[in-house]
Amino acid sequence: MKVIISGDHAGMTIRNEVKNLLDEMGIVYEDTGCSCETSVDYPDYALPAAERVASGEFDRGILVCGTGIGMSIAANKVKGIRCALLSDVYSAKLTRMHNNSNMIALGERVIGPGLARDIAKAWLETDFEGDRHQRRLDKLTAYEDKNL
Ligand code: RB5
Repeated sequence: MKVIISGDHAGMTIRNEVKNLLDEMGIVYEDTGCSCETSVDYPDYALPAAERVASGEFDRGILVCGTGIGMSIAANKVKGIRCALLSDVYSAKLTRMHNNSNMIALGERVIGPGLARDIAKAWLETDFEGDRHQRRLDKLTAYEDKNL
């Protein structure tokens, strides 16, 4: 699995924590987040990362900002992206099992680094269940194909 991770100036600590986790799990990743000496705009980091997941260059993407909200809104503008804004481990598992989410967004001002690590680990380790959930995703893809 290849993962892209990105984030703005408000997500540095969690971005580093998740990178430690990816190293421990032996997962190949590229960090395209800001160097964060100054304040930046989250769309400039979320949109290019989402496009690289949508293109198939990366299997999954992890985004971090202050709340995770801006990053998730931006990523979900990109056709083919299913980005889940997460703050608990249960949802991390279920969004893989039911939504086949290919990106997540985490909020550093909302959750701590320990929980962020547990969420990312659960999300990375959980598989999509398919079946009726695929039918539902097909409806989203059909909408995208028609309208985006
Ligand atoms: C930056 O201050 C903050 O607005 C950003 O990191 C994010 O939380 C936006 O949704």
